[in-house]
Amino acid sequence: VSLINLIDFKSLGDDRGQLFSLEGNKNIPFDIKRIYYMYGMQSDVPRGFHAHKELQQVAICIKGSCKLVMDDGTTKEEVVIDTPNTGIVIDKLIWHEMHDFSENCILMVIASDLYDESDYLRNYDDFLSFLGNS
Ligand code: TYD
Repeated sequence: VSLINLIDFKSLGDDRGQLFSLEGNKNIPFDIKRIYYMYGMQSDVPRGFHAHKELQQVAICIKGSCKLVMDDGTTKEEVVIDTPNTGIVIDKLIWHEMHDFSENCILMVIASDLYDESDYLRNYDDFLSFLGNS
């Protein structure tokens, strides 16, 4: 099975423009507890490089584009995200990296829980051993 799980959001727009609504346990597959977003990234400065023990997330590239690398410890896949009507699921225990940000990139992330540093696996070897023990 692919590590790339995309959600196509249905537009509620009309001739006045596009409109999208994100709802917990509807088109976002969990209770929404947190939203964060980032911009001003540099194309040659990748981010991420961690996995979460429990947190589930959906990332949406609201503007511009970037490349996401997803790795379950066995398989590695990458995808370019560049449309505000599609979300990409970042499940728990998926090592993920963001690369190749366009200059205007705005990346928004919907998360299933509040920020908790103890949920992070920030070291790839720790990620692999956590997988091995879980
Ligand atoms: P970091 O995890 O390094 O970002 P990225 O995954 O994009 O590389 O987060 C940067 C800093 O922000 C780090 O000190 C943790 C903090 N942070 C919060 O306080 N709350 C949050 O919701 C997030 C995502 C990060």
